[in-house]
Amino acid sequence: MIGPMDHKGWLADLNGQQGISVYLHVPYCREICLYCGCNTKMAVRNEVISRYRRALEGEIGLVTSLIKQLPDIARLHWGGGTPSILGLDGLRSVLAVLGSHFRFDLTFEHAIELDPRYVAAEFADGLAELGVTRASLGVQDVNPLVQVAIGRIQPLSVIESAVKRLRSAGIGNLNFDLLYGLPMQTLESVRKTCALVSAMEPDRIACFGYAHLPSVKANQRRIDEASLPSLDQRIDQAELIAEELVSFGYVRIGIDHFAKPTDPLVSAAASGKLHRNFQGYTDDDRQVLLGLGASSISTLAEGYVQNIADVPKYIRAIEAGELASVRGRRLDADDRWRGRVIERLMCDFSVDFSIVAPGADLSRELPMLAPMVRDGLVEITDSKLAVTEAGRPVVRIIASAFDTCRRPETAQFSKAV
Ligand SMILES: C[S@@+](CC[C@H](N)C(=O)[O-])C[C@H]1O[C@@H](n2cnc3c(N)ncnc32)[C@H](O)[C@@H]1O
Ligand code: SF4
Repeated sequence: MIGPMDHKGWLADLNGQQGISVYLHVPYCREICLYCGCNTKMAVRNEVISRYRRALEGEIGLVTSLIKQLPDIARLHWGGGTPSILGLDGLRSVLAVLGSHFRFDLTFEHAIELDPRYVAAEFADGLAELGVTRASLGVQDVNPLVQVAIGRIQPLSVIESAVKRLRSAGIGNLNFDLLYGLPMQTLESVRKTCALVSAMEPDRIACFGYAHLPSVKANQRRIDEASLPSLDQRIDQAELIAEELVSFGYVRIGIDHFAKPTDPLVSAAASGKLHRNFQGYTDDDRQVLLGLGASSISTLAEGYVQNIADVPKYIRAIEAGELASVRGRRLDADDRWRGRVIERLMCDFSVDFSIVAPGADLSRELPMLAPMVRDGLVEITDSKLAVTEAGRPVVRIIASAFDTCRRPETAQFSKAV
């Protein structure tokens, strides 16, 4: 079982010569949307948010005290929840603590997830002053009927204003998150969303399938299941969104991202340098990701560690001067080649084992893929495996043949789309 002891050793060994990425998680929102599957809570009192912010700052102090050679930060990503809930003063305070330990490298990219309903003009200006270079907006769907059904009312004008304010502040790199499979969504509604969203010209659009897990997420129990699209309708919606966004000039990246032809994701994808991490597709090739905050995952040279997801427990651990890591995995050589194969399949839809996993024993995996070869979903020639056009929608299932924790099962088909 991996925990704080391993985490301490891994931090101590961190290579200070290479730039790292940092992820800061803020698990609070002003209200909880019915569809939300994120690790977040409603924050009624500002003291709760301040206490969490102090814990985040405490964790930065704790983690950095364990690193012998501090690297530079190349990428910083605020996620949530709604990190803007810290306010400009709160964000500034955390950045000051980070800046008192780390240097930011020359290519520094600073991204934040924003709820379009909370992007006032002064706030956008303040974010730019804090050095934010990229904003990711939760758009989901612009259709009013869908917005009512998911408990997230944000008229198109609200999204347009957020975009305008961010751009006037100088934050030019914008991502939109869209969802399909939401209650009340139809092919017509997603077609309209694609047209209206493309007209705002975000640089990147991520489009995920709505994950409905009412047994785990109490807020989702208020969604009328009768209004959810069927599995076939979900597949049709995902395909239509891809067709529409491509028709508006976006380039398809991997399974669920779209980018303008000039976006760095497109050149990364074309040159086989695309990566996929916990947040989706990225051109970030940093080997180390420090995840800070409740539920955050860190990727270190030796393996992964995840912090406690329960926010009060996370705060208590940090206030007691302890690392909040609660589980993880030390990666051996087998895990590493499997990870590389899965990443290439998810990013390139093909993999050359002689390059990515030389010498790997594929005697269990190749027979497992035989039915998919018969169904025309994958092609295997010499040392190469290529996912066909027909296989792309189920690439997760194909890739899971290389994952010792998740072998392919037909039951997983619905989750994969
Ligand atoms: C942290 S939120 C984005 C920032 C901000 N809180 C907001 O809602 O605009 C991150 C993204 O998670 C995705 N998400 C949330 N709940 C989801 C669910 N049940 N299934 C799939 N994606 C979901 C949405 O695309 C959402 O934009
Ligand atoms: S979708 Fe965003 S704003 Fe809504 S509850 Fe989830 S994290 Fe909060």
